[in-house]
Amino acid sequence: MDKIVIEGGARLSGEVRTGGSKNAILPLMASSLLVDGCMTITNVPRLRDIDTFNALLRHLGADVSADYKAGVLKIKTSAINGTEAPYNLVKTMRASILVLGPLVTRFKKARVSLPGGCAIGARPVDLHLKGLIKMGASVSVEHGYVNVTAERLKGANIYLDIPSVTGTENLMLAAVYADGKTVIENAALEPEVTCLAEALVKMGALIRGIGTDTLTIEGVSELKPIEIKAIPDRIEAGTFMAAVAMTRGNVLIKDCPLEHLDALSSKLREAGAEIRSEDGGVRVIGNWPIDSVDIKTAAYPGFPTDMQAQIMAMMTIAKGLSVVKETVFENRFMHVSELKRMGADISIDGRTAVVRGVKGLSGAPLMATDLRASASLILAGMVAEGKTEVSRIYHLDRGYERIEEKLKKLGANIERIKE
Ligand code: UD1
Repeated sequence: MDKIVIEGGARLSGEVRTGGSKNAILPLMASSLLVDGCMTITNVPRLRDIDTFNALLRHLGADVSADYKAGVLKIKTSAINGTEAPYNLVKTMRASILVLGPLVTRFKKARVSLPGGCAIGARPVDLHLKGLIKMGASVSVEHGYVNVTAERLKGANIYLDIPSVTGTENLMLAAVYADGKTVIENAALEPEVTCLAEALVKMGALIRGIGTDTLTIEGVSELKPIEIKAIPDRIEAGTFMAAVAMTRGNVLIKDCPLEHLDALSSKLREAGAEIRSEDGGVRVIGNWPIDSVDIKTAAYPGFPTDMQAQIMAMMTIAKGLSVVKETVFENRFMHVSELKRMGADISIDGRTAVVRGVKGLSGAPLMATDLRASASLILAGMVAEGKTEVSRIYHLDRGYERIEEKLKKLGANIERIKE
């Protein structure tokens, strides 16, 4: 297993480009199951989650070709002959559940392994299933698989108790071919949901209320394949912003979707960083001392849970006390024990972490536990005194494309060691 070795102390400078958004690309890939033909997705980075979804689509009979150098994914779906998402593919990536809606609505049935628990919380899929049941589907759970069948889904009024991101996407994907009108209330507002909705409209779907919490979808009988460019990854961009702010750097981030990063930008500014739009990107300048800020994660446009671990790493060396509340997932503080091994002063009470800024962190051998926790440990290693080694970085490769190469170009002393 590879590991990342960092020698702390470098101030980041130069230019970096953000890649396409993984969380936008996965639902776009799922939408290919709705059409007969070739979907083309551009601005696609090489990520393990995208490879896993490719494997899933191939398992269903799709012909997938990926040119990661050009960032182009072509998915041909004329020969789909399967409707089952097996355990070995779903267990490594929860987002596999996104095939459920398209398969049921186009092929009348689907059998998908239940994702089960995962490192950052229970994360059930009850809202996905309740929505499909409201649309007339029959749902049964057997041997760890959920079986869903429906001759033709019917339009329905669906209220989501929680604005689930993939839940909204799955139900929207299902509703495009339903008979009549579906209204999804308390829908997720994340930019990745909007990206999918706009792609579906380009494919011929009838969707109103895009970008609001009420989506109205009129079923149609046919959609056509399209070429679509994925939006930039706001979490990758946000991770760079935090890295620059923490290391007192000065970096121009290209393809940085600042319009999707209001909550993070305002917290980084409060902590003392300068952030401004500049020709061709967003300029971030970090200043010390870092002021402590309080964070409460929430659904978009609130502070993203996917940036909580990285901002907490930053708060470990801030001036004063910072309170971090995680309201989206119940078990997303696994980076805390590793940060503490570097000398951070953090105490946890339920979903709240209290971080008392310390003068400095010291490098240590660390274990990555999930995707964003891995990023937070790398950020901490970049400001720590001495050497930090982060192992189990396969988590990192799920969602960041060659982050060590990008950070190295910005001046970080960072290497990937093959083991
Ligand atoms: C998506 C993102 C993930 C991000 C998360 C929250 C993708 C592929 N992943 O995950 O990176 O961290 O949004 O922004 O886009 N819930 C239920 N029942 C359900 C569905 C969700 O109780 O049926 C709960 C979850 O346990 C969680 C909350 O709702 O507490 C939000 O989860 P959700 O928005 O569904 O996250 P994902 O779509 O899995």
